[in-house]
Amino acid sequence: MRTQVVIVGAGPSGLLLGGLLSKAGIDNMLVEQRSGEYVLGRIRAGVLEQGAVDMLDEAGVGARLHAEGLVHGGIEISWAGGRHRIDLHGLTGKRVMVYGQTEITRDLMHLREGSGRPTVYEAESVSVHDIDGARPSVRYHKDGQTHTIECDFIAGCDGFHGVCRASVPKDRITLHEKVYPFGWLGLLADVPPLSHELIYVNHERGFGLCSMRSRTRSRYYVQCSLDDRIEQWSDQAFWNELRARLPADAAASLVTGPSLEKSIAPLRSFVAEPMRFGRLFLAGDAAHIVPPTGAKGLNLAATDVGYLGQGLIGHYKGQPADLDRYSERCLRRIWRAERFSWWMTSLMHTFPTSGSFDRKVQLAELDYLVHSEAAARALAENYVGLPM
Ligand code: APR
Ligand code: PHB
Repeated sequence: MRTQVVIVGAGPSGLLLGGLLSKAGIDNMLVEQRSGEYVLGRIRAGVLEQGAVDMLDEAGVGARLHAEGLVHGGIEISWAGGRHRIDLHGLTGKRVMVYGQTEITRDLMHLREGSGRPTVYEAESVSVHDIDGARPSVRYHKDGQTHTIECDFIAGCDGFHGVCRASVPKDRITLHEKVYPFGWLGLLADVPPLSHELIYVNHERGFGLCSMRSRTRSRYYVQCSLDDRIEQWSDQAFWNELRARLPADAAASLVTGPSLEKSIAPLRSFVAEPMRFGRLFLAGDAAHIVPPTGAKGLNLAATDVGYLGQGLIGHYKGQPADLDRYSERCLRRIWRAERFSWWMTSLMHTFPTSGSFDRKVQLAELDYLVHSEAAARALAENYVGLPM
């Protein structure tokens, strides 16, 4: 088998890249180790910057996003029993779109099916070869057979635990990592959202977040211990904990209901540099992770894929410049997003090691956000996203 670009991983990054390349007439194959249903079963964040929305439009999957997505011009931050709105639109002229990653993935899968380009699901033992040669290849097992796909380029869109980054010789890659001493317990339920905007809560008991997927479906999170097991958390225990962290007026209007999904995710900051190794390119979670507090994960993945798509399209037109600066272009944005996500995480969470001094500094910083337009604007600019 032979194609121009093999994309390893059919999460949002791989599917979007496949969409952009197919639209430009570049042959590509997607190789995914899981089933389509498994990929759709993962519940992840859902805040899109304008740049990501534009890219989904460009790929041809904007229709449902615009019909069903919720446009938000602000977010709320709550602490010490009060609520404060950050006027994203007023401060930056931009808004964000709330639309679940699961729905984006579903839309991109439909686009893929319609494109007629091949996607191999449930590919086993995927491996990448000859990334420095003129003819790299991707190998996998399926139905008792070994398959080899030769290609011009390999796009490693296989997430944090993928095989692509792991295949790079150690002396050619630098990894930067910070692991946080807590996780997020998330719950999805068919109950109306607490408010029409997201509420980020700083509380001594731990962080909380009130988010949503639609006008009838809510997504809530509470900071939890890394030792917690999901079985320990009944729905009732979750709702009680969330309510305890909310300001009184919000707690009073919280509508609870049975969970559709509940899961614990650890928080991590991670960057792999560079993002190109010969003919192998890393994109999305394969190259970087941000803690979800800044809502940047999917947006960064979209930017990587946008730059990689541009680079590959340029290459086939005889213009290699964009592909050559892929890594550098991506990493500049990535580090900005890493900084912001780390800062939001530090500002909003209760750290097991922090004492009264750290707590007071957090409260002073929150107070500064309310009383300084410059501070609020800095948050808003980062939240709505840097220009591409
Ligand atoms: N071979 C083939 N596929 C693989 C392999 C492998 N060895 N390892 C992992 N995969 C697949 C996974 O099963 C998954 O479907 O690669 C896909 C990677 O998808 P994601 O983890 O969703 O990563 P990405 O597409 O970059 O999406 C980034 O996900 O975690 C969020 O915040 C993040 O929203 C952002 C988005
Ligand atoms: C979500 O809706 O899942 C969500 C929203 C905002 C975040 C993180 C997660 O910062």
